[in-house]
Amino acid sequence: MLVKSIESFTQVNPDVLVVSLFENSYTHIDFVNKHVVDTKDFDGKYNTTYLLSTLGQFDIAKILVLGCGKKEEFSENKARVVIAKAVKTLAALKMKKVAFDLDFGFDYGKFGTIGAYIGNYSFDKYKNKKNERVEEVYFTKVCPCQIEEGELIAKAMNFARDLANEPAQYATPQKLAEIALSLDGVETKVYDVEEIKAMKMGAYLAVGQGSANPPKFIHMKYSAPNAKKRIAIIGKGICFDSGGLDIKPAASMLTMKDDMAGAACVLGIMSVIKKLNPEVEVHGIIAACENMPSGTAYKPGDILTAKNGKTIEVDNTDAEGRLTLADALCYASELGVDEIIDIATLTGACSVAFGAVCAGILGNCDELVRNVKDAAFEIGEKYWELPTYEEYKNGLKSEVADMRNTGGRSGGASSAGLFLKEFVSNAKWAHIDIAGVAFLDAPLNEFIKGSTGSGVRALINYICK
Ligand code: BES
Ligand code: MN
Ligand code: ZN
Repeated sequence: MLVKSIESFTQVNPDVLVVSLFENSYTHIDFVNKHVVDTKDFDGKYNTTYLLSTLGQFDIAKILVLGCGKKEEFSENKARVVIAKAVKTLAALKMKKVAFDLDFGFDYGKFGTIGAYIGNYSFDKYKNKKNERVEEVYFTKVCPCQIEEGELIAKAMNFARDLANEPAQYATPQKLAEIALSLDGVETKVYDVEEIKAMKMGAYLAVGQGSANPPKFIHMKYSAPNAKKRIAIIGKGICFDSGGLDIKPAASMLTMKDDMAGAACVLGIMSVIKKLNPEVEVHGIIAACENMPSGTAYKPGDILTAKNGKTIEVDNTDAEGRLTLADALCYASELGVDEIIDIATLTGACSVAFGAVCAGILGNCDELVRNVKDAAFEIGEKYWELPTYEEYKNGLKSEVADMRNTGGRSGGASSAGLFLKEFVSNAKWAHIDIAGVAFLDAPLNEFIKGSTGSGVRALINYICK
C-alpha cells in the first residue's frame, strides 16, 4: 500500500473521498453538508460510516463520511481507529484509491498511517483468492515525516502479525532464527542445542526436549553509537504450546501457534530498528522452542536447574513459558543491560482477568513499569498493572526444589510474574503478559480476528522516547 501526503484531494483523482463528521456538526465540505448529509440520516456517531454517491455533481464518484463522535472527546487514538474503519470498509467495497480530507484539528499523519495499515491488514497468504485491499491512501493536512514514522511502526506491526498468524508448521524455532539472521542493521547470534547446554539453560532445554524441531536461542543486537542506555527485550517464543504431557484440551490448543506472539513482537521491532535509529542499544532475545508431548518430553515432577543455578520442580508442563523465560532473563541479566522488558503470552489467568481489552504489566521498578505503561497508552495499547504482593509467591513453594513452576489457579498472572522475578539480577525489569490481547477470537476495535501485533507499537514508542 502506498501512503502519501497531498495538498488537496483534487490532485489525485481518487475513487472515493473520505471526510470527517463530528456529532451534531457539519463537515468542512460544503458539498456534503449543504446538499447531501442530513443529520437525520447520519449523526456522526464515533466509528460509524456513511457512503454517498455524488451522482455526477462532483468530480469524485463517492464520498465516505466518517463518524468521529463528540469533538471534545476526540483524540489521536480515535483518529487511528476511525481511519482503520474507513480503509476496511472501502477495501471491502473494492475501492483502490482513497483520499482522506479530515477536519481533526491536529496532525494525524502518524496515527492515520498506522490506522490505514491496520484497516488494510488481512492474512491471506494461503488463500488462492486474495482478500480485497486498498492500494493507495492520500492524506491532506498532514506532515510527510509523520507518515514515514507511522509507516515504520505499521510495518513492524504487520511483520509481527504475519508471523504470529503463520501456522506452527511454518513458524518453527529454525524459521525464527533464519528471520533474525536476515534482519538489516542487527547483529544476530543463534545458539543451537549443544551451545544452549553449554550455557546451562536447564529450564529452557527441558521445555524443548520433547519436540522433533530443536530449540534455537536467538540474540539480536542493535548498537547505537552514542547509546544513552542499554535495553533487552525478550519475547516468549513457544512456537507451539500443546501443553506437553499435561496436554491441553483441543479447544485451548487451537490457537497455540500464537504462543510466540512475544517473539514475533521482538522480531517486528528489530526488523525496523535500524530505520528507527534510536539512541539506545537494543538486545532482542528469544528462547524459541516447541512444547510437545513425546517419549523425550520433560515430565511433571522433573527438577530443572536454570542458568543462575536455581532449581525448579515441574508441577505442570503447560507452565512452560516461564521456564524458557527464566533462562532468557538470566542471559539478559548477564549482559549487564540497564533495563529488561519481557513480553509473553504467559497466562490464561491474565486473559481471564482482563479479556482481550488490555495486557497485564508488572516489574521490579515502579518507574519503568509506569513509563512502559504510559508509552503504550500514548500510542493506543492498554496495559494494566498486576499486583506483586509477596503472598502471590506462596504457591510457588516446593519441598524438593527452590521453587515450583506453578503457583495454583488463583492469582496466576501475578504468581507467574513473581516466578520470573527470581531470574532477574542487577537490572530494572518489566514483564508484559499479552495472553489475552495478542490473538483475537473476534474482531475488536480496529483489529480483525487473529494476531494483533501486541507490544510492537508500545515498545517502539518506549524505546524511541
Ligand atoms: N501459553 C499459555 C497461556 C495462554 C493461555 C496464552 C491462553 C494465550 C491464551 C501458557 O503456556 C499456559 O499454558 N499457561 C497455563 C499455566 C498454568 C498451567 C499454571 C495457564 O494459564 O493455564
Ligand atoms: Mn502452556
Ligand atoms: Zn504457553
